[in-house]
Amino acid sequence: MKISFSPPFIDNDVLKEVEDTLSSGWITTGPKVKSLENELSGIAGVKNSLCVNSATSGLILVMRWYGIGKGDEVIIPSYTYCATALAVIHTGAIPVMVDVYDDFTINIAEIEKKITSKTKAIIPVDIAGWPADYDSINKVVQKKNIREKFIPNSIPQQQLGRILVLSDAAHSIGAYYKGKPTGSLCDITVFSFHAVKNVTTAEGGGISINLPEPFNSSEVYSTMRLMSLNGQTKDAFTKTRAGEWLYDIVLLGFKMNMPDICAAIGLAQIRKYKSFLLPERKRIALMYSQLFSHYKWAHLPILSNSDGTESSYHIYLLRINDIVESDRDAIIEEISKTGVSVNVHFIPMPMLSLFKSMGYNIGDHPVAYRNYSCEISLPIYPQLSDTEIQFIVSSVVGAYQKVIAK
Ligand SMILES: Cc1ncc(COP(=O)(O)O)c(C=O)c1O
Repeated sequence: MKISFSPPFIDNDVLKEVEDTLSSGWITTGPKVKSLENELSGIAGVKNSLCVNSATSGLILVMRWYGIGKGDEVIIPSYTYCATALAVIHTGAIPVMVDVYDDFTINIAEIEKKITSKTKAIIPVDIAGWPADYDSINKVVQKKNIREKFIPNSIPQQQLGRILVLSDAAHSIGAYYKGKPTGSLCDITVFSFHAVKNVTTAEGGGISINLPEPFNSSEVYSTMRLMSLNGQTKDAFTKTRAGEWLYDIVLLGFKMNMPDICAAIGLAQIRKYKSFLLPERKRIALMYSQLFSHYKWAHLPILSNSDGTESSYHIYLLRINDIVESDRDAIIEEISKTGVSVNVHFIPMPMLSLFKSMGYNIGDHPVAYRNYSCEISLPIYPQLSDTEIQFIVSSVVGAYQKVIAK
């Protein structure tokens, strides 16, 4: 049986929405993007969200808005996709990597150790859809001694007066932390709508704004929107109207806007995300957990707990107890022979050539390495049938038996 890892969910509603855009006479940033932004704000529990062309762009844009650049430091977990670190580097700042907990989220005690007077932001990552410990992170940045260290060098930094908490929620749209949705857990949250994500626009990202007083969320939205559109006072949609030709360039912007043709795909998906797509993901994740619970060697991911925290079931991070990296690789090879595509999320950044050449060392991140060395990501997407899930599980079990229990 051939099982791919993450095909996009394209139904008639997606096709209709895309066709509607194609025949509307407008295909780049316009009404569909606005509707997607409103839907995202609803799910994220915020007033304003801005869509951009990727989560990577979103992270760069937010950090630039906050005035982060050369000489600054941004704390991130070592266990994430490279985009978290690359976004920091593209602002000119230095990514300061810290180790993670057993549940893959950023280690709070390690964050505290790494904060200096140069620290401008912390980027927790909700790996696989499981939220980081935001209450603890928000408490750290509010601590008196840590606020006293903070040296503001932009207007937003003066207004906030502390380290920005910027969530990399590329995986976690629709997840909850202590009863609150991702998007509303810290200052600013960036979601990904990349092709393999829970809601996709082929490529895309969303920025949800949840800044405290004295920030005005719709003003921040407008500034960020301007920054995403070359700093141009009128977008192309407005300029198509008769008499609307005059514009100005008022700041050094980027070209990071999302086109309507992309937003159309995500719009059709996000409308049924809570009612259909997310419950389907949950069905699959729970079925994996139920089927793997019979095997002592299977270390199951945490998917929900009694304090109202619940995953967005982006991917299923299965770990195998008591194996080493080469065993994991051999198990994946055996699984692949059965036609099932699995993955590893992620190779910790200090193991990748670029970051090694910059001096990062996996020896400083023992938990990230331990998690990585025994992890196999199993597919989750709504189209997976119960029979296919059973096949995936028996493929993993068979591979384990062949490699380990032989
Ligand atoms: C944890 C994490 N952060 C950021 C990104 C970047 O998302 P995008 O491809 O939308 O830029 C990804 C993409 O896979 C990711 O997994």
